[in-house]
Amino acid sequence: MKDSFLVTGGARLQGAVKVSGAKNSVLKLMAAALLAEGTTTLRNCPEILDVPLMKKVLEGLGCEVVIDGSTVYITTPGLPCSDADFEAVRQFRASVCVLGPLTARCGRAVVALPGGDAIGSRPLDMHQSGLEKMGATTKIRHGAVVAEVADRLHGARIALDFPSVGATENILTAAVLADGQTILDNAAREPEIIDLCEMLMSMGAQIHGVGTSTITIDGVGKLHPTEHEVIGDRIVAGTWAYAAAMTRGDITVAGIAPSHLHLALEKLKVAGAEVETYNHGFRVRMDRRPSAVDYQTLPFPGFPTDLQPMAIGIAAIADGTSVITENVFESRFRFVDEMLRLGADASVDGHHVVIRGIEQLSSTAVWSSDIRAGAGLVLAALVADGQTEVHDVYHIDRGYPNFVENLQSLGAQVERVHH
Ligand code: UD1
Repeated sequence: MKDSFLVTGGARLQGAVKVSGAKNSVLKLMAAALLAEGTTTLRNCPEILDVPLMKKVLEGLGCEVVIDGSTVYITTPGLPCSDADFEAVRQFRASVCVLGPLTARCGRAVVALPGGDAIGSRPLDMHQSGLEKMGATTKIRHGAVVAEVADRLHGARIALDFPSVGATENILTAAVLADGQTILDNAAREPEIIDLCEMLMSMGAQIHGVGTSTITIDGVGKLHPTEHEVIGDRIVAGTWAYAAAMTRGDITVAGIAPSHLHLALEKLKVAGAEVETYNHGFRVRMDRRPSAVDYQTLPFPGFPTDLQPMAIGIAAIADGTSVITENVFESRFRFVDEMLRLGADASVDGHHVVIRGIEQLSSTAVWSSDIRAGAGLVLAALVADGQTEVHDVYHIDRGYPNFVENLQSLGAQVERVHH
């Protein structure tokens, strides 16, 4: 658990990498398997720690789960258990996505309030009020959210205050089995939501407006198991794109639809990179110091908050001053404190950070606070002089399969240290 990465800066990353399935998709798809009795098969699953953690959660609910490399088989019983195992759920936030399927299937769900990343307060009010509109009662009891339905969920018109990814997913996975039509306004439009809708439709769900901010769901009585391929991880792919630009390297990334990263790649072009896109990948080349670029994180298709540490990383070594604005999570700038240790010239003002680029960062020991901050620190260490030790890399292991091996194959000097 206490592993760290030793990163020696200075290498220009060059070569090709293939990204596997998206972490933020696979966990929701695994939960969606609860909606149908029988065996659902998911292909292109990433080999990251969160997948076995989700396996535990589903096993606690009565499913049989087999992980065979990148394929996961989930066999759901006629009636899953409604109470998710407290300890299994508390270990990672994404487990809250079992709330919608359990409420729909069992008429009751008990899911511990999740722990997870230290990126700000992450309430569940929109998840709860969506389910309540569909006829459930919800309350927080002994550290868990408890949802109950007297009979069957019914369709409803629901408008989200903010296009929350998790709330959209829980409402979708509840509404597919509800009685009647649900119209969800201000829904999230992330590619992972589209992936979930596609899987649900292949299970027999009736969904319209997929990928738009108004999703209409006509509830059906029963869904059947399916076989589905997880979309590529756009955040991992984006991490490689920023690694190429920061190290003045040349990386070709396969396994991802470049449209899922459109704005992030456009920003790199403005910074001076050459970007080529293909059907299932892209190439980023950079041969000079990046220019400063401003960023604002927003729900998709805006710039992803999960790539905000990479935006800060490139801004830290850019020519000029950048302003980075975080609009999704309030505490995500904790990462900036670690960047200051690496010598970055950055100051935080509310949800903005102003960064005056310097030629080179300066190596030291730094600590990961969440998955993306951890990966962002590794990129920063790649452009620091000397050797940086990135601690608490168990965060990175939750989201980046074979990170060290991939970095090494691209020419980075990095090794894992077991403490
Ligand atoms: C998901 C992703 C995460 C990504 C985020 C935004 C997974 C496992 N995680 O997280 O990597 O950074 O989307 O793209 O898929 N909010 C409320 N009330 C609610 C729900 C959310 O106030 O009921 C707020 C949150 O505190 C946050 C914002 O809405 O400020 C966005 O959160 P949300 O889109 O729900 O993110 P997650 O689904 O938790």
